[in-house]
Order: sequence, then structure tokens, then C-alpha cells
Amino acid sequence: MQIIKKIGVFDSGVGGLTVLKSLIEEIGFEHIVYYGDTARVPYGNKDTQTIIKFSLEALEFFEKCDIDLLVVACNTASAHALKAMQAQSKIPVIGVIESGINALVQKKIPKDSNILVIATQATVTSGNYERCLIDMGYNNITSIATNLFVSLVEERIFNGNVVNTVFKYYFPAELKPQVIILGCTHFPLLIDALRNHFGKETIFVHSGEAIATFLQQKFNIKPNNANLVEFFASDNTKKLKATAKEWLQEGSYKIFNINQTFL
Ligand code: DGL
Repeated sequence: MQIIKKIGVFDSGVGGLTVLKSLIEEIGFEHIVYYGDTARVPYGNKDTQTIIKFSLEALEFFEKCDIDLLVVACNTASAHALKAMQAQSKIPVIGVIESGINALVQKKIPKDSNILVIATQATVTSGNYERCLIDMGYNNITSIATNLFVSLVEERIFNGNVVNTVFKYYFPAELKPQVIILGCTHFPLLIDALRNHFGKETIFVHSGEAIATFLQQKFNIKPNNANLVEFFASDNTKKLKATAKEWLQEGSYKIFNINQTFL
């Protein structure tokens, strides 16, 4: 099996940095190319054809980067465009949905557990998480599109009155999930607030952690703590750099380059 040394991480914007963080902290790579389509984010309120078009353009960009494997960190792109990307790619393209479901199995979550999937509107509408969960024998599933969570995180509002009001807006009082699948790149940053709302015993599935485990199980990866990250954004590279500084552990990675791509 080929040794994976250089990977690409694709997201609709800055949210995929939560996945990048897990890949750096839990595995470590020689070289990582991160591309966020910040000019066209959010993908979560777009329709399938648009999400496929943007994701295939991202794939075209990554083709020039000489990577060994591409991680689609964006749940919305994973839900709608993964098959189209895989069909056109010469290298493995891995989405976050299969690995998220795999994490449930690994955590030995009982099949009758009350599972809540929270994601963007487009991810929920795709029905992808539900289908995969049902295929694995889980049958007690509630899916809620919580698009406003993306804006909260982008505004750095992680707790407090605004967050509690938004939670009340989306979550009926009787909702008592045992497991929450964080089906969006941004949602891990709301985990403390979600835990306060639903209780300490709630089990969370985080796309970044799940995909790190999945890659280690399925691919021949030689961990390397160089973590030279080359960042690309289709708009506002300054915001991407500032967010990386805020969300990623200082010293865990080195910025190799920050570039703007032109659509
Ligand atoms: N990255 C997207 C996801 O994980 C959230 C932001 C967007 O809507 O593009 O679904």
C-alpha cells in the first residue's frame, strides 16, 4: 500500500480547520495543503448541483498539488459531492460521513441509542447520515438542520445568552439525545455549550477525531510531526490565517505558505 505523506484538506471555508487540527494532533503529516473556498462559503444552503460544481473545482485545484490523499472536511460537500469527486480523482478522496458512522461503531454505541444529527440544511436534506446510520442498524435518529450554529461560530460566539436562545429555537424541550453527531465542521466549537444543554453524559462524535482514526485504520500513514501547512483560500486569506492561529495549537504546525486562489 502506498505511503501517505502529503495530504489535502478541503472545506467550504475556515470550518475545516477543526478537522485539520485533529489530523495534526492525532496523526501528523509531512506536508498538508488546506484549501477553503471562503469566497463562496456557506455551502450549507446551496443545492446539490452547485455543491458538486464547487467541489469538483476544488478537486481540480488539488490535482496540481501532488497530494497522496484528499480529505473532504466539509460535511456538506461530503454529503453531496463525494461520489462525483471520487469518480474523477486518481487519488483517494475521503469524506467525513463514513468515518463519523465508523466512530459510532468503534465507540460501541448500542443500536437503539437515541442519536441526534446536527448539520447544515443541505447535509440534513441529503439524508446521507440517516441512510448510513440505518444501514449500520441504528434506528432511533433525529436530524436537525442548525444553520445558525455556523454563524455563531464564525462570530466567535461559543456560549452565553445568544447561544442558549438559538438552542431553544432548534431543540424541542423533550429532545434528550444520548449521542450527538456533530455533522458540520464548525460545531465542535460549540461542544461545551451543547454539553451544558444536554448533560454531561452525552456522547459526541466529532468529524475530525473520527476521520483521524479512520485514516489510521485504512491507510498506510507514516506520522510526521513536521506539519508544514500550505493554506489556500479563494477570498480573505487574512481571516483564514487569523482563524488558524486562534483554533490550532501554537507550535503544532508551521505555515509553509498562504495564498489566494482565483476562481
Ligand atoms: N463546512 C460546512 C460543513 O461542514 C459548514 C459551512 C458551510 O455551510 O459551508 O457542512
